[in-house]
Amino acid sequence: MSVVKKREKVTVSTITRMKARGNKIAVLTAYDYFTARLLDQAGIDILLVGDSAANVIHGYASTLPISMDIMVGHTAAVSRGREKALVVADMPFLSYQPSHKTAIRNAGRFLAEGNAEAVKIEGGIEMAATVKRLIECGIPVMGHVGLTPQSINRFGGPKVQGKTDASRSYLVESALALEEAGCFSIVLELMASETAAEITSALKTTATIGIGAGPHCDGQVLVINDILGLREPEFKPRFLREYADLPPIISDAARRFIDDVRSGSYPSDNESFGSGKP
Ligand code: KIV
Repeated sequence: MSVVKKREKVTVSTITRMKARGNKIAVLTAYDYFTARLLDQAGIDILLVGDSAANVIHGYASTLPISMDIMVGHTAAVSRGREKALVVADMPFLSYQPSHKTAIRNAGRFLAEGNAEAVKIEGGIEMAATVKRLIECGIPVMGHVGLTPQSINRFGGPKVQGKTDASRSYLVESALALEEAGCFSIVLELMASETAAEITSALKTTATIGIGAGPHCDGQVLVINDILGLREPEFKPRFLREYADLPPIISDAARRFIDDVRSGSYPSDNESFGSGKP
């Protein structure tokens, strides 16, 4: 007789345990209730409500314009669809950089109004004090180093990080400082695989979640729209693996609906309500 193991709720402690045991952590972004429910039922460990919503949901060219109110709305929707996964909310540009007070107020909104269980903030060693204050307030934090999209104007484009000695040592020092400050995990974005491997083995308890950072991280994250093909055709970074091609399916469904409405074949009698009178 086979015993079906019941899936347990994922918490920040689960993520720490997974790192210790060498179990790989699977993370996808989500922005709405229904997608969150499907990903949760599929067994995803972490649902990240990324500020990539600015790009893939709202059509902006960068993540900079998205507001706290919009991100809290997406987070609340995702949390309503979550059963077992850990929900992490991405703090938008300038919602945590100005002061610790601002960071605590805004991070608190994600937990209190959005029902998230952790927040993510971008930045290395310079963000360690902010991370420490948030954790002291009971707010678990996921860090994010490498190519951090909120600083795209400083990087001057999507350039792979951690290739030079200076960049590698800044990233390693940053990851160690974020671990010391208490981050339960850190996203490593667009980084030389060797640097990501060095960080992953240097961190004792903090799990690394890679995106374009090679195979040696403790886990991997991708943007849900990207893996479903719901992206600009010219956006095809080397690290992206596409698992479905939804645009032709959506276009075909829309075209058939339009044809049926125009030809009068929709709705049929079976799809309509009678008065009930003979
Ligand atoms: O906003 C986002 O989707 C992210 C992931 C790509 C890590 O930060």
